[in-house]
Amino acid sequence: MKPLPGFRDLFPEDFARRIYLVNRWRETARRYGFVEFDGPTLESAELYRKKNSGGEILGQLYEFTDKGDRPVALRPEVTPTLARMVAERHRDYPKPLRWFNVGTCFRYERQQRGRLREFLQFNCDLLGDASSASDAEVVALLIDLLRSFGLTHKEFVIRLSNRQAWYEFLGGHGVEKERAGDFLNIVDKMEREPAEKTEEKLVPFGISLASLREFLECSKIPSLDPLLADLEARGLRDFVRPDLGVVRGLAYYTGIVFEAFALQGNLRAIAGGGRYDRLLKDLSDGSADLPAVGFGVGDAVLLELINEIPAAKVQEEAALKADAPTQLYLVIAAEERRLSALSLAQQLRSAGWRVAFSLGAERVGKQFGAAEVYGAAYAVVIGAEWPRVKVKRLADRHEEELMEGELLAWLQENRNLKAEI
Ligand code: HAM
Repeated sequence: MKPLPGFRDLFPEDFARRIYLVNRWRETARRYGFVEFDGPTLESAELYRKKNSGGEILGQLYEFTDKGDRPVALRPEVTPTLARMVAERHRDYPKPLRWFNVGTCFRYERQQRGRLREFLQFNCDLLGDASSASDAEVVALLIDLLRSFGLTHKEFVIRLSNRQAWYEFLGGHGVEKERAGDFLNIVDKMEREPAEKTEEKLVPFGISLASLREFLECSKIPSLDPLLADLEARGLRDFVRPDLGVVRGLAYYTGIVFEAFALQGNLRAIAGGGRYDRLLKDLSDGSADLPAVGFGVGDAVLLELINEIPAAKVQEEAALKADAPTQLYLVIAAEERRLSALSLAQQLRSAGWRVAFSLGAERVGKQFGAAEVYGAAYAVVIGAEWPRVKVKRLADRHEEELMEGELLAWLQENRNLKAEI
């Protein structure tokens, strides 16, 4: 029995990587003053069907009728839930709201590298401010987030655009507003599809591929100027590139849109987001009218990217090593001292140290072997000399002899040891 296609078993070593990602997501969001929230993973299917919240995601919904005959869906993204929650209670919070979420999402996607059917997504959204200052704040957050994994502007870029430019283009070609979403979906996919297919899809719009390409080549998007100036002042201008080709697949975006891409390899977008000034109003039938901007990052592409970039991999491995599940391994060299070892283990654990030891009599060599396997930084040898113990640093076999009663204070005073562990 295997998990379903696109679903994952997370063994402890996989889960350790997840914790590494999530810790960095949370740390970065907090550096920007964002607070964490969550909503349900199962929602009314109608939430995704309401005007503007849908788009291509509707075809990927895991939906069914529950035992109470309600049409429900596993959340494919968190933004509609966020919009629903904020529309309901926004009066209780000072504006703007800076909210983030780490949550599981489900999409019935075609299987490909970096795209799964169950994945973890990190979302940051700033609600209640319509200015480019908030656009810059979330783009800067995304840049710092990717930098926190050891990635630099040599490895990723954020492609920025503004859907308004496309609405003007469509207006100039006599295409009605209601059809804009379908058209933008063609643009969104054109990089990943053969030219003939794009050409064929454009026919109903009366727009030729040549005129589309000509428009794309005009790389200056005037409405981005304040955002670019803001990022420049933060020293982050090198991380972004205006690019009209980014339009996003979701229907609710109204203004700036952006996607983060790896510069090497053939990975799908690492992150995507933009401004959605009408979603709250549409979902609340006009009772809450709040502008908003935000982005989402998935775990899958990010993990693939970290594997490919040596500096990012080294940083991840160092962090995983530093977060070893066992810090101290008690080697019980004289079995008659087991009760003393148990008492010591209890003291060390109460003080917050991660401690393991063999559960039955074992050869000393085997216990040292186990200490290595569990990634302990130190072995504490408890033998006939008790209450004198030996502390052995496993990396270089350096040894210290201490009285049992001095051990905890010695460990706690030894800042280097804590840092190393
Ligand atoms: P999205 O572009 O659909 O946007 O997803 C954002 C990110 O989630 C993607 O760039 C990717 O990293 C990850 N992701 C999406 N689908 C999958 C999948 N099937 N498997 C693995 N990872 C995936 C949104 O979801 C918007 N709600 C983001 C947003 C927040 N916009 C404003 N606020």
